[in-house]
Formats: sequence, C-alpha cells, structure tokens
Amino acid sequence: MEAAKKLYVKSFGCQMNVYDAQRMADTLAPEGYVETASAEDADLVILNTCHIREKAAEKVYSELGRVRRMRDAAAAAGRRVTIAVAGCVAQAEGEEIIRRAPAVDLVVGPQSYHRLPDLLARAARDGKAVDTEFPIDDKFNHLAAPERAAIRSRGVSAFVTVQEGCDKFCTFCVVPYTRGAEISRPVDKIIAEVARLADAGVREVSLLGQNVNAYHGEGPDGHPWSLARLLERVAKLSGIDRLRYTTSHPRDMADDLVAAHRDLPQLMPQLHLPVQSGSDRVLAAMNRRHSRADYIAVVDRLRAARPDLALTSDFIVGFPGESEAEFGDTLRLVDDVGFSGAFSFKYSPRPGTPGAEMDDQICDAVKSERLQRLQEAIDRNQAAFNRRCLGRTVDVLFERAGRHPGQLVGRSPYLQPVQVMAPSSSLGQIAAVVVTEVSSNSLFGVLAQKSDHQPTQPPALLGAGA
Ligand code: SAH
Ligand code: SF4
Ligand code: F3S
Repeated sequence: MEAAKKLYVKSFGCQMNVYDAQRMADTLAPEGYVETASAEDADLVILNTCHIREKAAEKVYSELGRVRRMRDAAAAAGRRVTIAVAGCVAQAEGEEIIRRAPAVDLVVGPQSYHRLPDLLARAARDGKAVDTEFPIDDKFNHLAAPERAAIRSRGVSAFVTVQEGCDKFCTFCVVPYTRGAEISRPVDKIIAEVARLADAGVREVSLLGQNVNAYHGEGPDGHPWSLARLLERVAKLSGIDRLRYTTSHPRDMADDLVAAHRDLPQLMPQLHLPVQSGSDRVLAAMNRRHSRADYIAVVDRLRAARPDLALTSDFIVGFPGESEAEFGDTLRLVDDVGFSGAFSFKYSPRPGTPGAEMDDQICDAVKSERLQRLQEAIDRNQAAFNRRCLGRTVDVLFERAGRHPGQLVGRSPYLQPVQVMAPSSSLGQIAAVVVTEVSSNSLFGVLAQKSDHQPTQPPALLGAGA
C-alpha cells in the first residue's frame, strides 16, 4: 500500500477559515492525505489566509518564507513538498501570489475548495495551478463529509457554515470581494451535516456565516427558512445540547430570531453583534446602514427576550475622518451596552474598498492611542461582567485538559473559558460549576454538588455597564 501523504493546514482569520480547513482535509482524505500537526513532515502545506487587515494579509508572505526554506530542506533530502495558498488572500491576489512567491505551486480561492484534488493533479502536471473563480456550482455539494475519527479528533464543539459571502459592502471591508455574493445552504444539507457530527459525539454547534442572521436557505418545504427556524430544527437533533451562531449584522436581527433567544433552551445566551462605531456619522460613512440608536434598540429587544444575554462586538478605530468627539461616542457606547467582551481594530485601508480612497485618513499614532483607550473600556466591562458571575452556578461544557494536572477547561453558556479541577471522564460532558474566582478573561470554579444546581439565567447579570 502507498504510504499516506501528510497534509498540514495553517489557518489565519475567522472561524469560517477554521471550518474550511476541516473541509479541505476531509476532501483530501480520500486522496490519501492524513493530517499532521507539524509543517516539517508535511508533503502538502496549505496556508489558509485572511485578507481582512493589511497585517493579516502580509503575514502570509513571512509564513511563505518559512515554508519555502522547509521545502528546500526536504528537497535536499529527496522529498517533494507542495505549497498551496488558500483563503481570502488567494481570492484577492490570485496569480500575483505566485509572482511574489514563486515557491507557491497552487492558489485556490474559498469557492473552489471542492476542486482541490484536480488542482493538485494539475499543479503536479503543469507546475502551477490557480483557481479563483466563483463557480456557479455550489462547492458544498462536492466537499467530502468528515470521517467519524476526524470529527472526534476535532472535539465536542464544532462549526458548520450555513451561509457564506456578503452583499452589504461596508466601505472598509474586503469580504464581499473575497467571499463573493451571499449564499445560504439548504436546510436538509445542514441537518444531515449536524446529525453526522452529533452521531460522532459533538455536543455544541456554532452555525457560521459572514452574515449568518441573513440566512434564508431553502427549507424541506421548498420555501426559504429564516435562521430562527433553522436553529429550532437543529435543536431537535438529539445530542446537540448547545447552539450558537456567528457573525450577525444588527440590521438582520429579525423578531423570530430575537424570540428564539427566549424560547430555545439550547440557544446559548451569548451573541456576537459587531457595531464598529458608536457615532452616527461614522456608521453612515461605513455604510453600516443603521444608527447608534438602532443598535441600542436591537440590544434592548434582545435583553427583553433574554435578560442575561452576554453581548460581544467588534470595533474599528480611526476610520477616515473619525474625530475625537466621534471616537468618544464609541467609548460611551461600550459603557452604555456593557459588553462582556469585544475585539477592537485599527482601521486598515484595504485595496479596492471605498474607505481606502477616502480623504482624512487618520495617522497611526492617533489610531494606536484610541485603540488603547477603547481596549481599556472593553476590558473594564469584561471584568465587570465576569465579576457578576462570581458565586453563581453555571453549566460548563468541558472541551480539553487544562494547563495543570487534573484540570479541565470548558466554556460557560456566556462563552467564558472556565477552569475546573475535574476527572478526565468529564471531558465532552456538561456539568454545573460554582464560580469561585474570576480574572479579566477567565472563570475558575469547582464542580457543584447536585443540590447547588440552579438553572442558568442569573438575574445578577442583568443590567448594563461597569
Ligand atoms: N461580517 C461581520 C464582520 C466580518 S470581518 C460584520 O458584519 O460585522 C470581522 C471584523 O474585522 C469586523 O467586524 C471589523 O471590525 C474588522 N474589520 C473588517 N475590515 C477591517 C478593516 N479594513 N480594518 C480594520 N478592521 C476591519
Ligand atoms: Fe464586511 Fe460589512 Fe459584510 Fe460584515 S457586513 S462581512 S463588515 S461588508
Ligand atoms: Fe479573513 Fe476572509 Fe474571514 S478576509 S476574516 S478569512 S472571511
């Protein structure tokens, strides 16, 4: 029998890239590729790239330098290594990548992953292969399903892409260009995929999309289904105890989805709802097409449905023309909403987006200074949210061994990491944990005695602000 070929995939960027990496591995498994955890012994290295900010996009080229040196060392030992670039940089830059980094054999955009086996054959035959088309044919119909062993090796919490691409064209963002127009997968296909995961032991599923709450896939009845309806259907699958979805756009927070946060016990009380800015003028310039008040109204509707909902967000500082007063509006929004956490980024002008052409680009020193102040406000809110969990009992899904012997790490319903001394038999299980200590980004606790357990809807988490 031919020895297995080894595949190493390194992913940058968002959770959809993590999911894509798994589907690429699944699709290459029937071709004889087995995943390896180290690039050094790989026969095929795939860099699964992100184009969202300049820093992320440039990381690829430094990484490629390293991979090329590894390939040269392997070649000296008589072993051939193939180098592929996938992901959003592949889509955005295409052949340019091979011009800049001639060691690259293959460039494949996110909508062509199902063609990887053909592309590898083509690269072996012709030396190079590039595919950055947006095929009419849906890749999801061709990507191989994961083997049971592969699912188990990936843990009890899994991602499933249900919607991809974006039609919103925020003026700072490359995603509509790198992922293409918005498409939703049919309900049946998603159910089959989640059922397979559940059957292999997965307990928690996060439904993914660049605009996941714009989901409108075809239902079994032939009509488009909303995300809320999809969640309700997925929740009926036995074994799936926890559901999440990400990333949502504030404009697509439909009433039935808000209601799902009240009515669906499997739907975890945590939501990532990027707002980017707290200033109406900046929001308009970003083409977000909602105001600060609209955002707060969405938050109010959500908290009316689920009072303990933990909200996280994304922010951009230093968008062109952002004044100190406008930045102040963003700082105030952080305290007004009381986020349980957030990511904040310095605006990075991206080629081909309207923002990059705008006047009044902000200098890096101002961006850095604003980023620091924003991060302080976010950290303060996050610490306050965590403090409110002290002494409470929360359900924890244990995902992996901790750093210390006998310790396991899991997630609370609010997505906080929780560290607990617990037997390894608890891995993959949900257990009630009393929170005994909190830090700025983690909780620590002990397994609850049966009588300690109370349902997780702690009114103590109610109320915004630090
Ligand atoms: N679809 C999601 C976000 C996808 S990108 C949404 O609609 O919000 C993830 C985050 O990266 C964004 O929320 C934004 O905060 C950040 N981001 C996107 N483009 C950026 C840019 N040009 N510079 C800095 N941050 C950016
Ligand atoms: Fe980018 Fe805006 Fe689309 Fe989100 S909604 S992916 S930020 S264009
Ligand atoms: Fe990056 Fe593409 Fe995701 S640009 S954030 S990998 S959609």
